[in-house]
Amino acid sequence: MLGHSELKPMQPRHRLFAALLIAGIPVAGMAQSNATLTIDTTRPGANVSPTLYGIMTEEINHSYDGGLYAELVSNRTFQPGRVPGIENWTLIQNVDARASIEIDPSTGPSAAIPHSLKLVVRSAEAEGGAGFYNTGYWGMAVRAQTTYRGSFYAKAEDPSIGALTIRLVNNTTGSVAASTIVPSLGNAWHRYEFTLTTGALTPSGDNHLEFLVQKPGTARFSLISLFPPTYRNEPNGKRIDLMEKLAALHPKFLRFPGGNYLEGDHISERYEWKKTIGPLVDRATHPTPWTYRSSDGIGLLEFLTWCEDLHMEPLLAVYSGYSLQQEHVNPGKDLEPYVQDALDEIEYVSGDASTRWGSERARNGHPAPFPLHFVEVGNEEYHDQSGTYDARFAQFYRAIKKAHPELQVIATAPVQSVRPDILDDNDHALHTHFYRTAQQFFQDVHHYDHYDRSGPKILVGEWATREGSPTTNLGAALADAAWMTGLERNSDIVVMASYAPLFVNVSPGAMQWPSNLIGFDALHSYGSPSYYAQVMFSTHLGDRILNSTLDASNPRFFESATLDSKTHHVFVKLVNASSVPQTVDFKIAAANGIAGNAAVTTLSGNTTQETNSIDDRTRIVPVTSTIQNAGLAFRHVVPRYSIQVLDISLK
Ligand code: AHR
Repeated sequence: MLGHSELKPMQPRHRLFAALLIAGIPVAGMAQSNATLTIDTTRPGANVSPTLYGIMTEEINHSYDGGLYAELVSNRTFQPGRVPGIENWTLIQNVDARASIEIDPSTGPSAAIPHSLKLVVRSAEAEGGAGFYNTGYWGMAVRAQTTYRGSFYAKAEDPSIGALTIRLVNNTTGSVAASTIVPSLGNAWHRYEFTLTTGALTPSGDNHLEFLVQKPGTARFSLISLFPPTYRNEPNGKRIDLMEKLAALHPKFLRFPGGNYLEGDHISERYEWKKTIGPLVDRATHPTPWTYRSSDGIGLLEFLTWCEDLHMEPLLAVYSGYSLQQEHVNPGKDLEPYVQDALDEIEYVSGDASTRWGSERARNGHPAPFPLHFVEVGNEEYHDQSGTYDARFAQFYRAIKKAHPELQVIATAPVQSVRPDILDDNDHALHTHFYRTAQQFFQDVHHYDHYDRSGPKILVGEWATREGSPTTNLGAALADAAWMTGLERNSDIVVMASYAPLFVNVSPGAMQWPSNLIGFDALHSYGSPSYYAQVMFSTHLGDRILNSTLDASNPRFFESATLDSKTHHVFVKLVNASSVPQTVDFKIAAANGIAGNAAVTTLSGNTTQETNSIDDRTRIVPVTSTIQNAGLAFRHVVPRYSIQVLDISLK
């Protein structure tokens, strides 16, 4: 019997078959010869890393603004945009009204937001009105019997401008879904709150938000905000459907805030966490490398409450002194303020409320410290051509370890001066994180089987099969699952892995990265087949790696097996990426036998291109079935193009 890492040479017939498969030539009439899978449950191997499957996140593809961040108003602080005019805001002049809007750089509600929108109404009438509207993020979702909570800052030159009408209006029908009135505006900057409550209506993402006055006058506005109900009703909260999709992944950690988003194109555009905390009016917003500006509504505290809500470990990436356009800070004196900033950030996350930055967190509404065990220094530092990462990492490492010996410090490129606890690994040939084709993953499923166990542990901080867009297809999911069998089998050394990118707003123009895990528009969201592969693996993790031996000629058949030693369940992951079914003869060594039926979860489809989309959201989803009377030996057929998890209960 051969080990999984040493499949026997293919017979000529199999070689022909494999060649046809790789060439994509239909071979439905052919059958794979039977495989044998031997699993030994009597001598469990190394522990499965309890933190193996996590998620990686950054502001890309409108992941937060227009995505997870439930804010409905886009460009709420009237920042310079990518288009002429005031991005996402439009003047309203109903009936015979005459009015204008422009950015007033001379006044705003705070030092962080020193400008505002100036509305000048020269004439307006009660039946019409003048004002402006916001188009949202490719529309605004409006649902029946729902209360939306809004706020804005304003000051009027004169109270004679009268009452402000605020309403949610359908773009196509013009019907008003909800309306309210703010009776008057004062002549100094003030924050106003309002609610909009809908009645019976058909849910739609095709709406905008209007602000109208019926009398002449001048007023200035800023930080206009409107939230639907949020996950756990948290203020400044997150979109419910997306959080529920993440919760179903049971992720063990959140790697944030990037990614390129951490680094910024320039040092001045890096993720400056201190500018993302506290009241929204004190958050200046900042340019990102992904072509649009971040509102910073999801700031450091919101990342942390996200971890708390989904029981994830924060994997905090700190800025390391390198930005994408090859700008860097020299190690030594120049780097000291950045190291201090990282120490402050760690204190904000995990210091108690008596510390300088822990007390700031308490002031921001979260007195309890967050658990913190993992800190990553930078992102993809192998791109830094200055050759300074080794010294910069060592400076961060020593300072962090001195203040927090309990923390695991992660390097994002190989270093020599100190030994990192964990290395965020990359594809050395591609010189990037593991962003690959399906074929590349199939050929490299045994990547970690013979990896040096004496070096740092491994974080696979970003990886994905990049086939299918805007979200990946079944072919990608099959390759993802094949790669995950390798991660799982080697999870004594691969302690963490996070697929990326996580989110994409699929509306025209919202996407920067074409292959993603979860897609959404203003109203709906869906998981890609890759998403469901992640769900299947992460919800059947187990805690011990089982020795399994596959004897198969099918070059696209993969497996891994783990044991949950507390519940005595064996989880067998099977991936048949070929175009014909694969029959498998199971041989299980178990001290006391198998307890009856095995539960099977299957994700499968007709072609590798088959996929889910915003209009066909559940085309490919896991289905469950049962293998009756699974024993120590049984035969099982794995459908073509399928991922399966067998849940076998030991006696
Ligand atoms: O996930 C998209 C990008 O890929 C990340 O920002 C970066 O770290 C990587 O190159």
